[in-house]
Amino acid sequence: MKIVFFDSGVGGLTVLHEARRKLPAESYLYYADTKNVPYGIHTKEEVFGFVRACIDDILRTDDVRAIVIACNTATSAAVDDLRKRYAFPVIGMEPAVKPGLQLVRDSGAKVLVTATPLTLKEDKFQKLLGTLEAQGRVDPLGLPGLVQFAEDGVFDGPEVRRYLQQQLSGFDMEQYGAIVLGCTHFVFFRQAIEALVPSHVTLMDGNAGTVNQLIRVLGLDVLPDRTNGESQDIVFLSSKGTEEERNRLERCFRRLT
Ligand code: SIN
Repeated sequence: MKIVFFDSGVGGLTVLHEARRKLPAESYLYYADTKNVPYGIHTKEEVFGFVRACIDDILRTDDVRAIVIACNTATSAAVDDLRKRYAFPVIGMEPAVKPGLQLVRDSGAKVLVTATPLTLKEDKFQKLLGTLEAQGRVDPLGLPGLVQFAEDGVFDGPEVRRYLQQQLSGFDMEQYGAIVLGCTHFVFFRQAIEALVPSHVTLMDGNAGTVNQLIRVLGLDVLPDRTNGESQDIVFLSSKGTEEERNRLERCFRRLT
């Protein structure tokens, strides 16, 4: 039985990478809905439909031990309904707003939360801000362009930097202590963002928290990684179903190792 990592595209590979580091002995299936990426421009109902169709596709050939929805947008739109529909554990992403607020607590600085527009407008994010009493201490910033750059295999360079500079230009970074990467695709751009913001700003993502939740839910043991970054024990699949897409996902995973 496999642990499935699901995303609209390549972003969830960053979460799988974290899982493989902590759980090298497990058997993984990575499934990307590259037919419908990007999810961030669709409605909540459309995204739920896409994710359900993909999981049903996986279940035609594989037994699922647990599924990690390694996509903040799909988590926001669909995780509650997926938990009702399937008997196996469904683990979602949560933007690292809480650790971000903890980090800036003593300085009084703010947290900039980057994500797709759909994630930022969904109830799940708004409720999280309410629970953390974060209003006024958190500012949202949609960066949908980064999803496309990642899918195109462009992870840095003048175009990426120009896009980020434009998007960040409205924010006085002296007021911020942390930037939350609230979309798994954005993790690929950590260095590009770090190069553009002052050194006191810490970048945070939810990948480790999600993998720790997977470990807790399945009662797994963390083992030393002896895989040397190889990926034979990972099956890569996509909704496009082509060999070219499979290879693209595997190549993208390898650049993380
Ligand atoms: C997208 O497909 O628009 C991005 C997915 C994510 O939020 O990780």
